[in-house]
Amino acid sequence: MLEKIPQWDPCYSVGNELLDRQHRDLLSICAKAADVLDENHTGDKSQFHVILNDLYATVLLHFSTEEEILRQNGYPKLAEHAHEHELCKEWLVEILVNATLGEASNEAVHTFLDCWWTQHVLETDMEYKEYLLDR
Ligand SMILES: [Fe+2]
Ligand SMILES: [Fe+2]
Repeated sequence: MLEKIPQWDPCYSVGNELLDRQHRDLLSICAKAADVLDENHTGDKSQFHVILNDLYATVLLHFSTEEEILRQNGYPKLAEHAHEHELCKEWLVEILVNATLGEASNEAVHTFLDCWWTQHVLETDMEYKEYLLDR
């Protein structure tokens, strides 16, 4: 699992300015969420919930924007890509439900980042980079 929340860097570019901006925004929301609670899971839990809800809304917006751009460009692996988005959304919903049940922790943010950032953005999103740049 990631020790630290990654900071966006040009080496993470997927070749599209809007999608890069959304990735950067999502990482900074994750960093904000992780800053609210300390390692004992204490801190402003209501603020943590507000940030998680913001994260969810921003994730939904990003996934639909990305899918639309890939659709417009005739990306051949769109269906598999959208399926991974669904799995990431399910993880995030589980985290939101757990937080509502009082299980708010920074680990939840790191769990989401493992799914969304490490497994999805750095692998699956990167796969469309060359394709979009060739359009
Ligand atoms: Fe993405
Ligand atoms: Fe994606």
